[in-house]
Amino acid sequence: MMSYGYKPELSEGAIKCPIFQTSTFVFKNAEEGKAFFEVAYGIREKRANEELGLIYSRLNNPDLEILENRLCLWDKAEECAVFESGMSAITTVLLEFLKPGDLLLYSMPVYGGTDHFINTFLPKIGVHVLGFKPGLAEGDIKKTVQDSGLSDRLAMIYIETPANPTNTIIDIEACARVATHFSNQDSQVLVAVDNTYMGPLWQHPLKHGADIVMYSATKYIGGHSDVIAGAVLAASGLMKRIKTLRTFLGNMASPNTGWLLMRSLETLKVRMEQQALNAEKVAQFLISHPKVAKVYYLGFIKEQSPAYGIFQKQCTSTGAMVSFNIKGGEKEAFVFLNHLKMIKLAVSLGSTESLAEHPASMTHAGIEEAHRLDMGITDSLIRLSIGVENYNDINWDIEQALGNV
Ligand SMILES: Cc1ncc(COP(=O)(O)O)c(C=O)c1O
Repeated sequence: MMSYGYKPELSEGAIKCPIFQTSTFVFKNAEEGKAFFEVAYGIREKRANEELGLIYSRLNNPDLEILENRLCLWDKAEECAVFESGMSAITTVLLEFLKPGDLLLYSMPVYGGTDHFINTFLPKIGVHVLGFKPGLAEGDIKKTVQDSGLSDRLAMIYIETPANPTNTIIDIEACARVATHFSNQDSQVLVAVDNTYMGPLWQHPLKHGADIVMYSATKYIGGHSDVIAGAVLAASGLMKRIKTLRTFLGNMASPNTGWLLMRSLETLKVRMEQQALNAEKVAQFLISHPKVAKVYYLGFIKEQSPAYGIFQKQCTSTGAMVSFNIKGGEKEAFVFLNHLKMIKLAVSLGSTESLAEHPASMTHAGIEEAHRLDMGITDSLIRLSIGVENYNDINWDIEQALGNV
């Protein structure tokens, strides 16, 4: 993965891919320009051994293409497209595959921004949306669709698993079977998975029957809280449509973002493994603390619960996200957050430094209160993203901050 897709001889022998900070690319002749556009705009299919030439950085750029090829290796995907944010990756997928009258079935909760787009924007363009909670059996998910009276218009099942901020998980294979059940010759129901919480290391949704996998690359992929980006991976047929909409919305990532993410990918595995190890220590510490009411952590899923089987099938790690209910409410949560000394009080996740936030008033503040509470995002909930620091320091900070509550 580290050297994949980059040829030093094309860049003065530079060992690392330089930043191709250029808006446009010079064609050798007019015929070449014409041929590149024919392929890029789908006027004709690519000939055998023909590669899409470099045209214009809204369509393609070496930093984006090499990064996309490397991301494909992690998820064993045919193609990838990188975006200027996770939200642009998600909204481009939703806009490309949903049209007025269609039904979108989505798992609850999802990231607050995604929830806002699904419940506030999509209905404005005539898309019907229907949420389902974790823990529903496959038959119940089917029944939810049937009872809506719109089962013939189901176009997509959108899943975020594990969910931000509650770490609840959804069975991707079961959703893929539900999608097949409601598909017919004329229309295929797609399964799209936001895999941000597991990063490309710990869960591979395409392997479990998903059609599309999406990331906020701002999180584990970027990993250093210095870049906003997104990625989508799928089979070539679907990616052609996604890339075409990206071309015309113009929401591709910049060359500099592509370069930063390539640099980040080289340490993805070591960063994430250290973060997971630290998270385990933090979760163990929190569970026995008298000021903590409940801990939401993949490592604490009970073996007897149906979620345990899903976890074992889908995830290869217990991850590095830990949420917990502090005893009390917003007041106690804020005292804790305001007394942290090393852990930063900031939204976002998956970075080298540990972060803490209050979902109800921050990342998920845009969600209508009753809907938010129904999903378990209460005023006492605190979300921690565990970094690569010494876990003794992280636990020391949590202990002293809880001591002020
Ligand atoms: C699970 C999840 N998906 C998507 C997003 C949106 O990504 P971005 O902030 O890169 O647009 C976030 C951001 O917090 C997220 O946590």
